[in-house]
Amino acid sequence: MIVNNNIKEIQSLMKDIKKQGKTIGIVPTMGALHAGHMSLVKKAKENCDFIFVSVFVNPTQFGEGEDFDKYPRTLQADLDKCEEEGVDLVFTPTNEIMYGEGYSTYIEALNISQILEGAVRPIHFRGVCTVCTKLFNISMADYGFFGQKDYQQVAVLKKMVRELNAPIELVMCPIIRDTDNLALSSRNVYLSPEERARALFINQGLFAAKEAFDKGEKDINVLRKILTDTILKGKPDHVDYIDIFDRNTLEKAKDVNNAVILIAAKYGSTRLIDNMEL
Ligand code: PAJ
Repeated sequence: MIVNNNIKEIQSLMKDIKKQGKTIGIVPTMGALHAGHMSLVKKAKENCDFIFVSVFVNPTQFGEGEDFDKYPRTLQADLDKCEEEGVDLVFTPTNEIMYGEGYSTYIEALNISQILEGAVRPIHFRGVCTVCTKLFNISMADYGFFGQKDYQQVAVLKKMVRELNAPIELVMCPIIRDTDNLALSSRNVYLSPEERARALFINQGLFAAKEAFDKGEKDINVLRKILTDTILKGKPDHVDYIDIFDRNTLEKAKDVNNAVILIAAKYGSTRLIDNMEL
């Protein structure tokens, strides 16, 4: 496994890989790798010849007062997991490598970037779009693998790729959950046992609404009530949104066709997101 942070060297290597007719898959991450991240690597391996993983806690997607400084960093363990999974190249740049002095170019997506996560975290998607564009350019990947866990992130990036005519196809991979059904997240380590117990009502709410839908309940307001009533039993310390949205626009859904449940809530100071397509 190659570990290299020299962008010029990597790009020259990637050109060679392409010349050999191999397909390149990128899995962008911020590290603290868990089974959710590794499921993306597995999916990439099924579909591509050369697997490029980036491990970079991207400062431009964190707002003031967010957890950039305390975000878990476990580089050696991450490298071991990548090696074990047969990753070909890991890129673990520093802030200076990615955003050298005087850095000034950003990709800003409007509309779906400004609602939900974007409303709560105004610069978040600008940072995500910028870093992913850089990573796509550095890796020259044919396919990018992203988790459904960050549903809006996939929607924003797919729109960006389409609108900028970027020569990459993004693949959305299913959410991996822990044995208690909490969606795996690098931020789960912040939760106390008591907070985690309350947070479990998130997936109970998602599964309850989905089950009612599958059994024939098509009244969106009934589904909204099942969802919200269940999650509120866990007494979240703050709710940003618990609702059903249109999968394409991410606007509040008028009916259950093509709908997705999206939730964001805080337990203690930890902000969790989760979702489920109906
Ligand atoms: P990070 O939170 O490290 O997540 C990296 C990738 O892993 C994302 O595509 C995310 O959706 C996916 N992922 C996280 N938890 C998952 C789970 N439980 N099941 C399946 N996939 C999961 O998302 C980011 O980093 C950053 O915004 C990034 C795209 C790397 C840009 O900096």
